[in-house]
Amino acid sequence: MNTKWRQQLHLEPPKGWLNDPNGLSWFKNKYHVYFQYAPDNINGGVKKCWGHYESTDMLSWNFTGTVLFPDTPYDASGAYSGSAVVNGDELYIFYTGNVKHIGDYDYVYNGREANVIKVTTKDGHNMTAKQVLLRNSDYPDFCSCHVRDPKVWRKYDTYYMILGARTLDSEGGVLIYQSADLTDWRYKKCISVPNFGYMWECPDCFELGGSTYISVSPQGLAHGETENQNLFSSGYFHYGGELTDFTEWDYGFDFYAPQTFDAPDGRKILIGWMGMGDAYTNPTAELGWQQCLTLPRELARSADGAIIQKPIREIDTLRGKCTSIADGTSVTAALPFDLCASVTKPFTLRLDSIMMKYDGEIFSIEFDGDTGFGRDIRRVRANNCHDMRIIADMSSLEVYLDGGRYVMSTRFYPEGSTAELIPNRIDIELYPLKGMEMNINGK
Ligand code: FRU
Repeated sequence: MNTKWRQQLHLEPPKGWLNDPNGLSWFKNKYHVYFQYAPDNINGGVKKCWGHYESTDMLSWNFTGTVLFPDTPYDASGAYSGSAVVNGDELYIFYTGNVKHIGDYDYVYNGREANVIKVTTKDGHNMTAKQVLLRNSDYPDFCSCHVRDPKVWRKYDTYYMILGARTLDSEGGVLIYQSADLTDWRYKKCISVPNFGYMWECPDCFELGGSTYISVSPQGLAHGETENQNLFSSGYFHYGGELTDFTEWDYGFDFYAPQTFDAPDGRKILIGWMGMGDAYTNPTAELGWQQCLTLPRELARSADGAIIQKPIREIDTLRGKCTSIADGTSVTAALPFDLCASVTKPFTLRLDSIMMKYDGEIFSIEFDGDTGFGRDIRRVRANNCHDMRIIADMSSLEVYLDGGRYVMSTRFYPEGSTAELIPNRIDIELYPLKGMEMNINGK
């Protein structure tokens, strides 16, 4: 197989298509990362399955195959996104069974079912029979047929479920359900913000540093110069009775539908899909696969309530010897690498076909001509940025600014397995990175 652009640090589908991360969990001494998977459809389509990776250390990953298929009348058009919670010696998985009836339907107000389905597993990949827990008739009357992506968590002795929804008036919102036993779910409330998109996908709710946050991926927000630049957005609100201060998770081209989970050492970790709807193309599609997940990122609450994201510290163990590159010198760096720099003034950094610029206020990444396969320019307002870290993989960049206060992720497709770096008015430190072990077993 032609392995050009195969990622060495990011989870990809062995073949076909990947989108949202699902069911993120720590269970029986392993990390579990499920994902929306269409092994036989390079462009995704609707009939999504769940693929599964597991790892003991988030540094070497084992693909165990396709573990959930759309094979019942309740999920016939796709085993859509969902989450997992550990219950005794089982992992409980909750996901959306998508059903599109054949006929003359608009699929918003009719013709579509969205079922919350539960399966359990003792080993992470062999699933029990499917049990439908909620159907459209169980959702409030003000909802359209678009209700999906259950994220379940436990607080004390109660379980909660948050679902993304589109109302009959095309407003986005989330529904909260409650359960004592993970099977019988009672509707509690809908939380929303007026005029903030028509649909909220892939919600999440978590506590961090004493604050409650609700994360959503809204569709239909107005695009700005430095915010909501992508086709669809993804960010978090503070939640204290109402939703306030929407902040985007990532200002790059490729980011959507993130999910959080707790590592056994107490870290709150987020993984997103490093992709974006039908907005751009990826030349790996011609090689038989496309799309990947972001690196797992550790979250922390800063004093002002913003969430700081950093690549998991495990990445540091992959670093080789550091080289310092002075302002104005050009180097050809082998991928993957980890680049760090202190920022004291405006600078530019050329990285292969991408120009990065910081003017003291706005940081931008811009592709030359059509080298971005539909990606052009993305900006973030990053006043007084003190530092920058870039994790470059074979075909992606994650740029962490100001200690992880702002992140920009993008796919990029260099000619070879190196990238030319030209720093201007900035000194950089470059660590080569060893690749992770990705055992995809030819599945
Ligand atoms: C988000 C999403 C989810 C849905 C899944 C289907 O990217 O549209 O709302 O469950 O993808 O693959």
